[in-house]
Amino acid sequence: MKKIVVFNHKMSLLYDELYNYIERTNNIDTDNDIIICPSNIYLEAFINNSQWSIGCQNFNQNTDFKHTGEISTDQLKSLGIEYSLIGHYERIRDFKESAITINDKLIAALDSNIFPILCFGEDIDENYREELPKQLDKYLKDVQNIEFIIFAYEPIYAIGTGTLPNKEKIKEIITFIKEYLEEKFKTKPRILYGGSVDSGNIEDILNIDIVDGILLGDLSSNIKEVERIINKI
Ligand code: PGA
Repeated sequence: MKKIVVFNHKMSLLYDELYNYIERTNNIDTDNDIIICPSNIYLEAFINNSQWSIGCQNFNQNTDFKHTGEISTDQLKSLGIEYSLIGHYERIRDFKESAITINDKLIAALDSNIFPILCFGEDIDENYREELPKQLDKYLKDVQNIEFIIFAYEPIYAIGTGTLPNKEKIKEIITFIKEYLEEKFKTKPRILYGGSVDSGNIEDILNIDIVDGILLGDLSSNIKEVERIINKI
């Protein structure tokens, strides 16, 4: 079955690597849905040259056009951006992004027909059965059209660490979340797994039939690893 693969470049790729990366990724043949989320400065280059779908990593949810250094959903839309990451743990950790902001961003993205890729996840010492419904309830409060959201389950302790839950645990947690969202929000969600995915573990993760795809962080700007990963799906 077709999978969704999201690349979160974070702050990586230098300008002199950019067009080599775009060209090499354009030469990869795949039937899966690939969404690249580069740094904002490269969005236009990707939109104009990449064969894959393009998302952004962040935007400003306000519409008053008075926020120095920010970008708006209108600007993204006018460039042809179709997706945005929302709720990534690094933004919660580094910019103290609150559940209210995440909720506002979901509403702003959906209002502009940008598909949100909503990240959520618990830390190592938290009980996922308590923590994940709490997070999702706050993030999804008053959000309409939840069916357009792609969910990305990213346990905090797995992001950028090389330590990830085993596949039984991933299956157990994603099953729990799917059931929770189906029951509470009457939606059949697509849920990705993210956190320390690489070419060595991707097959195991994607063999879990209920996992709809993966979100790849640090390695997603490493062209050799990207080629290995896509060839394994
Ligand atoms: P990682 O990051 O693949 O580097 O662990 C995942 C993410 O940032 O979403």
